[in-house]
Formats: sequence, structure tokens, C-alpha cells
Amino acid sequence: MYVNLRRIHKVQVARLLTTGLVLSVVMLCWEDLDHHVVSHMRSYTYRYLVNNYNFLNSSFTLKPDGQRRSMGDFRAGPPFRPYLINQPAKCAGKDDILLLLFVKSSPENGDRRRAIRETWADEAHIRTELDANVKVVFVLGVHPVKEERSSVQKGLEVENMLSEDLIQQDFKDTFHNLTTKLVMQYHWASTYCPKAKFVMSADDDVFVHMPNMVRYLKSVEQARSFWVGHVHRGAPPIRRKESKYYVSSELYPWPSYPDYTSGSGYVVSGDVAVQIHHAMQVLNSSMYIDDVFMGMCAGAIGVSPQDHEYFAGEAKAVTHPCIYARMITSHGHVEDMRTLWAEATDPNVEKLSKGILSHWYCKAVKAALLCLPRRQETYQCKAAFT
Ligand SMILES: *[C@@H]1O[C@H](CO)[C@@H](O)[C@H](O)[C@H]1NC(C)=O
Ligand SMILES: *[C@@H]1O[C@H](CO)[C@@H](O)[C@H](O)[C@H]1NC(C)=O
Ligand SMILES: *[C@@H]1O[C@H](CO)[C@@H](O)[C@H](O)[C@H]1NC(C)=O
Repeated sequence: MYVNLRRIHKVQVARLLTTGLVLSVVMLCWEDLDHHVVSHMRSYTYRYLVNNYNFLNSSFTLKPDGQRRSMGDFRAGPPFRPYLINQPAKCAGKDDILLLLFVKSSPENGDRRRAIRETWADEAHIRTELDANVKVVFVLGVHPVKEERSSVQKGLEVENMLSEDLIQQDFKDTFHNLTTKLVMQYHWASTYCPKAKFVMSADDDVFVHMPNMVRYLKSVEQARSFWVGHVHRGAPPIRRKESKYYVSSELYPWPSYPDYTSGSGYVVSGDVAVQIHHAMQVLNSSMYIDDVFMGMCAGAIGVSPQDHEYFAGEAKAVTHPCIYARMITSHGHVEDMRTLWAEATDPNVEKLSKGILSHWYCKAVKAALLCLPRRQETYQCKAAFT
């Protein structure tokens, strides 16, 4: 009896200790766990069970003009920043524009812009080789450091004299002003290029496989209410203060964002661009994560994004000859822009997709590249099998 009691005692002590240990580990790692697991579970539950973002429409709608005026606020919509550099004639008189493409750049990224102009964004080349009218403009604010601003600005004016493809508004070009840059793109599109069939927004480290893009857009040319990219569904707001993407619960109190596409590169049809511009005039634009704000605007006009497996997400996308035949955008290219353009448009790539042996070889390569769990936010695994 005595022995037995002691054994039970021991077992209980062991259990108690284990429980204590597990609890303290959980407590120590709680923030991590909360961030990586719990917040996502909460968010997915919200997205897939509640699935009702109606609140976005009412909570973020600005007060009607009259009411705001009496509250001493004379603005209608987000503050308008004057254009410092503009291309008002870029689209003028042209009815056949397939794609208006905004590249979100920063004043100091001249090298990136040069590489893009010389590769996938060469408008004359696109017209002759791909038989499509594509307009590319680089979207900028002003240099955030006051001391450097005037010399950088002179450089931009020279650059623009040669290339005539910069548009710039008077706001500091910073991460937290990206929504201002987004509003600027839709203002520009509906003011200076309202007839473009499609409007795209991309980062300046994104590679666009223009031949594939043009082929794809021509295949969906009649689409309306169209928004395509790398879709995030049920993404939770990040509440860790040290994160770049931190959003306070005052700014966004709900556990889940509306669906949105990765801002690295997405496309909307012209009708959506015009409606988004209208929505931006009546929605509170204090959400500084531009991709999410885009999701909120689209939600308010009842447009939901569709996924395309060859639009890249936030992470650096994988590159391989087997992928070039289908890729639309690829993220994270700066030094390798020119080599990637040469490789991805090499006529030999076409051959790789022909023949039964190379077909299966490519399927295997893609499965290995895309379906192993180490990759995040690059092309989805299903891209290997379509
Ligand atoms: C955004 O730009 C405006 C206008 O230049 C500036 O006053 C503001 O400080 C900027 N905001 C951030 C977060 O950089
Ligand atoms: C927009 O929302 C923010 C945060 O919720 C709030 O502080 C701000 O007053 C709102 N702006 C307008 C113009 O309603
Ligand atoms: C959002 O609100 C606007 C005006 O308040 C309305 O016209 C629109 O239909 C609403 N959208 C949705 C999806 O409920």
C-alpha cells in the first residue's frame, strides 16, 4: 500500500511538472504562437464562418460632405497632392490601350527603372513584337530626406526628359505613405487614361513576363469586375509592434482582413479601376498597408479578387526554365532583371514545353520547386500541375 501510494505520488508529481513545463513553454512562446497560429486560426474562422465584411463599408465610409464641413473638415476623400512631374498626354487619343502599368518606384531607384525600361517595359518592342499597346509609368513621391531632396529631384527631371514616363506627386515617398501612392495611381488612371482595358500595379523589383501577360490579357479581354493576382484570404492583421506591417486595433479592430491581392503585382479591368477611384473618395484612407486598403475599396464596390497561380506573392519567386513558359510576374529581381528577361524570353524555352518527356520532366521540377514546404508566398503548389 505504502509503495503504491508513493508510486501514484511520483506519477502525479511527474505530471504536474510536465504540465508546468508545457505551460511555461507556451507562456514563453505565446507571442510567437499567437502570431503564427492563433491569430491565423481566429482569422480563418472569421473569414470562412462569419464571412461578412459589410462592416467595412459602413465603418470606413467618410461622413457626407455637408456633415464633415460642419465638423470643420473640408476635404472630400483623401488629400489631393499636386503632381510635380506628370505625363498627361501619355494615353491621349489612344483607344486601343490594352494595359496601363504602374510601377511603384522610389526616387532613388533609377537603376531599377533603367533595367525595367530596357527589358520587359519597352513599349515600342511590345507594340511590334506582341502587337499590343501597353503604357508603363513609374509612380513616385518625393525623397523623404529633406537635405537630399533637391539634388534627387533634379536627377528625376533629367531622367524624365529622356524617358517621359515618371509621374510624381508631392508627398514623402515612404512605406507608410504607400496608400497615398495607391490613391495617386487610381486618380491618374481615371483622369488621364480612362480607356485602358486593364490597369496593373507592380513593385519596381517585379519582373513581368510581358509576352505571357499580353497573351493572358488578350484571352480575358472582355472581362468586367475583374481583379486578378496572388490572393490572400483571411489574413490576420499583425499586432506585434515591432513588425513593419503592424496595425493597431484602433485602426482596424477586426481579426481578419478582407481578401486582397499581393501588391507586388496585380491587374484590374478598366471598369474596376474607375469604381475603385470612386470608392477611394468616400472611404477613410488611414489604412496605410496599400494592398489591404485596395481590398477594402474593392469590398465596398463588391469586387472580389481571383487567384492566378503564376502571379508571384511577397517572397522572391523561384525561377527555372520550366516555369518561364507560364510565369506572369516574378518578385524580388533587381540585379538579375536583364538576365532573367533574356532567359525567360529565349525561344528555346518554348521547346521545353513540347515533347512528352520534357513535359513530365518539367512537372517533376515544378513540383519539387513549388510544393516543398520551405517556400512561402511564391507560386502556389498547384501551379506545378496546371
Ligand atoms: C507622408 O507624406 C506627407 C506629405 O509629404 C508627410 O507629411 C507625412 O509625414 C508622410 N507620412 C509618412 C508616414 O511618412
Ligand atoms: C479615419 O480613421 C482613423 C482611424 O480609425 C481616424 O482617426 C480618422 O479620424 C478617420 N478620418 C476621417 C476623415 O474620418
Ligand atoms: C457600400 O456602400 C455603398 C454606399 O454607401 C453602396 O452603394 C454599396 O452598394 C455598398 N457595397 C456593398 C458591397 O454593400
